Amino acid sequence: MSIIKTLTKDLQKIVSQAGYEVENLILQPSGRKDLGQYQLNDAMTLAKKYGKNPRMIAEDIAKELEKDNRFTNINIAGPGFINITLTDEYLVEIINKISKNIEENIDKEQPKKIIIDFGGANVAKALHVGHLRSANIGESLKRLARLLGHEVLGDAHLGDYGRPLGLVVLEIKKMYPELPFFDENYTGDFSEVELPITNEDLEKIYPLASIKAKEDESYLEEGRDVTAKIQSKVRGYYDLWKKVIEISKADIKEVYDKLNVFYDLWLGESDAVEYMEELYEIFEKAGIIEESEGAKIVEVKEETDNAPMPPLLFEKSNGTLSYQTTDLATILQRMKEYNPDEMWYVTDGRQCLHFEQVFRAARKAGLVDDTVKLEHIPFGTMNGKDGKPFKTRDGGVMSLKNLINLVNEETIKKIDPASVTEEEKKEISEIVAIASLKYADSLPYRATDYVFEIEKFADLEGKTGSYILYSTIRMKSLLAKAISFLPIPMYIPSL
Ligand code: ARG
Repeated sequence: MSIIKTLTKDLQKIVSQAGYEVENLILQPSGRKDLGQYQLNDAMTLAKKYGKNPRMIAEDIAKELEKDNRFTNINIAGPGFINITLTDEYLVEIINKISKNIEENIDKEQPKKIIIDFGGANVAKALHVGHLRSANIGESLKRLARLLGHEVLGDAHLGDYGRPLGLVVLEIKKMYPELPFFDENYTGDFSEVELPITNEDLEKIYPLASIKAKEDESYLEEGRDVTAKIQSKVRGYYDLWKKVIEISKADIKEVYDKLNVFYDLWLGESDAVEYMEELYEIFEKAGIIEESEGAKIVEVKEETDNAPMPPLLFEKSNGTLSYQTTDLATILQRMKEYNPDEMWYVTDGRQCLHFEQVFRAARKAGLVDDTVKLEHIPFGTMNGKDGKPFKTRDGGVMSLKNLINLVNEETIKKIDPASVTEEEKKEISEIVAIASLKYADSLPYRATDYVFEIEKFADLEGKTGSYILYSTIRMKSLLAKAISFLPIPMYIPSL
């Protein structure tokens, strides 16, 4: 029987020892995490049954709970909500039990097909700290959903479409006009053309092109033209764009691999483009597209809204498609190609409005029916000590590689140079740094912001990834030593 089922049964017994019979006790995760991990709401229903004040009933139950050493911080809130927390010892016992036999100790769910859209890296732009959070949280959710028996497809959903890529291709044209991609008369095979550009170059090219486009109207115009050429698959431009994606993707993959984050699908925004025409027809047919100042919009307001809900921008006044439209086309694509029961999106909380609009428009147009669940799973930002999103010293965007390096450098300081070779030191510090970073990122409540504190993250003491690794290795070494002293061979569980 699953741990939660066993616990629920035991709690039912405890309530009955307190003098009350409850039919269907439900152990709920607490709505107030500051008060406890779980809550019991049964005092309220029992109050009616026994004609007693719910708070008194809650107190009787709490007294019984106190006697059980599996629970701690038992407190009563409001009219009679009982909050409980499981002791660390009991949690360890639970985890040990689960790890010995997962199948028996967790409840499998009714299997569903779930697509998790996480990571969201943008081609030709460096991954930043926000991408770490999405990758880390998304990967955890993917593994948990699989454990519960679901069929899960993780999609990297690369940002590989639109003006940023047009600007990158334009800047490459300015730097290397002699490349055959820009020669209309070139008849050779573009796949054989060597591009004199590395991913590091790409990461510099986009910021440069973006500044130029802001300062120079004609450059921006040229950028638009190149974007249009890529989108209408003009030979050369289209091939170069594909090459840029490949270079960038290889680098993105390398970082995700380092983080132990894996995808089943490496699709991008551009893969949804072939569904654009059909999407347009569906929206036209549903009669929900309206003209507004030259743009095409979809109203997504609902009567029950108590906050303003602006319309979704379906097509900009200059005829280009918006981020919202590519997300709608992606929903259509996913339904057609994979037909999932649920789609989860793991992004920064600042995209809440975007997804609310997209989901509402998708339902309004009938892209998905009521049985399909669309869920945005937002997360808070990683901030600097100033409370603003974590930046580099000179105020620039902190790239994920930089962030990993920072933690790495701090970790290296803690390795005793006498005990390892230079090479081992590098290898160990990288493993420990990634563990520290991922652990520190997973520790705070998902939806709230948190502060990046290098000393705390890389600390060898307390709640840190490095401490977990350290303790595991220490235990292993102690056990190995102990075994060598044993007179007879003995079974020692592997850690
Ligand atoms: N590329 C986007 C960004 O960096 C995130 C994409 C999230 N997924 C989506 N389907 N919109 O902000």
